[in-house]
Amino acid sequence: MGRGIAQVAAAAGHEVVVFDALPGAAERGVAAVAADLRKLAAKGKVDEGEAEGTIGRLRAVDALPGLAGARVLLEAIHEDLAVKQALFREAGSILAPGALMASNTSALPVTALAAVAPDPGRVVGMHFFNPVPRMALCEIVRARQSSAESLAEAEALAAAFGKQTVTVADTPGFLVNRVARPYYLEAVRMLGAGEGDVAGIDASARAAGFPMGPFTLMDLIGIDVNLAVSRAVFDGMSGEPRFRPHVLQQQQVHANQLGRKNGQGWYAMDAAGQSLVPDGAGWTRPYVDAVLPGLDAVASRLVAAIINEAHHAWAEGWAGADAGAPLIDRAVRQGLNYPHGPLAWGDALGLGQVAAVLEANAQVFGGERFRLAPLLRRRLSN
Ligand SMILES: NC(=O)c1ccc[n+]([C@@H]2O[C@H](COP(=O)([O-])OP(=O)(O)OC[C@H]3O[C@@H](n4cnc5c(N)ncnc54)[C@H](O)[C@@H]3O)[C@@H](O)[C@H]2O)c1
Repeated sequence: MGRGIAQVAAAAGHEVVVFDALPGAAERGVAAVAADLRKLAAKGKVDEGEAEGTIGRLRAVDALPGLAGARVLLEAIHEDLAVKQALFREAGSILAPGALMASNTSALPVTALAAVAPDPGRVVGMHFFNPVPRMALCEIVRARQSSAESLAEAEALAAAFGKQTVTVADTPGFLVNRVARPYYLEAVRMLGAGEGDVAGIDASARAAGFPMGPFTLMDLIGIDVNLAVSRAVFDGMSGEPRFRPHVLQQQQVHANQLGRKNGQGWYAMDAAGQSLVPDGAGWTRPYVDAVLPGLDAVASRLVAAIINEAHHAWAEGWAGADAGAPLIDRAVRQGLNYPHGPLAWGDALGLGQVAAVLEANAQVFGGERFRLAPLLRRRLSN
C-alpha cells in the first residue's frame, strides 16, 4: 500500500520520501514503482515525461529521521495499533511543526493514534484501496480529535491524488471495510464448512458481478492483513459474533501462506502472481438453497449478508451525520468496484427476497450471523 500511496502522491507533484523499517524495502518499493511506470510508458499507457517526473520525485531513506521537515505523513505500516502508535509518537518530533499525520489503517481506531501524537488535531485517517493507483476512493476518517482544517486538508490532498472521498466517523472498519466484511468472512465460513472449494466460491461471486472472488481478493490484500482487519473490526465491535474471524484465516497465516506477497495464499501462484487453479477445482454444495433473483445460492448468501450489513451501518449512522444510502453505495462501489451499491442492490433484488435468504440461512447457521438488521426489517414492512 505504501508503494501505491507514494506513487499517487508523487504523480500529483509532491516530493515524496519513502521509509520502511525493513532494510532495503523502501528502495525496492521505489524501484518497483519506477519499473511499473516505465513499463506503462513503453506501452504508451502513460506519458513518458510524466512517468519520469513521478519517478524523480520519489526518494527512499533508510531511517525515520530521513523524513525530517516533511509536511505530511502518510503512514501505511503493519496493521498493529502499538506499532502504529510508536511511529506516531516518534514521527511527531521529526516532521515539520504542524505537519498533517494521516494513517492508512483499514480498521484500527485513528482516535488512538491521535492520542499519542504531539498535536492530536492534526491526525486523520486517509484510507486508500488496493491497488491505490487504480481504485477511485479514499475514506477520510474523522478521529475524535481531528480538526476541521486537518480534515479539509486531507480531503484536498486525496482529491489532488485523483481520488473521490467520503468523510467517515472513526468506527471499526470505517464504512467500506465494515460493510464488506461478510464478503470475506462468509466465504471462509463456507469453505470451512465444506460448502464449496476456493475456486467454486470465487466463481459464484464473479458470476454475481464482483470483479474478483473473495479468495482471489484476500490473496491480493494479504491474508495476514485481512485477518488483522477482521480482528480489529471484531474487537472494535466488542465481539459482535457476525464479525468473528475464522480459524482457517489464522491457519493460513500460521502456514505463512499470505497471498500474492509471498507467492502462496488460498491459491498457489505462478511467478507473475496469477492464481493456479488445480484440475477438478471449482465446486459448490451450499447447505442452504435459498437464492436471490439471478444469483446462485453461494452468491446469494454473500450478497444478502452485505446488504444486511449496509443496513446496520446506515441505521447506526456510522459514516457520520452526512451518511445516507447514496453515500454508502458510492463508497462501496468506488472502494471495491462492487457491481452495485449494496442498498440499491437490495432494493433492485427485492428486500423481501433478501430477508428470505437471510432467514433461510439463519435457520441453518443461527441468528447471530444472519439476524435481519432492524432497518431492513422496518423498510420491509413499510
Ligand atoms: N493490503 C490492502 O489491501 C490494504 C488496503 C487498505 C489499507 N491497508 C492498510 O495499509 C497498511 C499496510 O498494509 P500492507 O498490505 O501494505 O502491509 P504490508 O505488510 O504489505 O506492508 C507493511 C510494511 O510496513 C513496514 N513496517 C512495519 N513496521 C514498520 C515501522 N514501524 N516503520 C516503518 N515501516 C514499517 C513493513 O516492513 C512492510 O514493508 C495497513 O494498515 C493495512 O491495514 C491495506
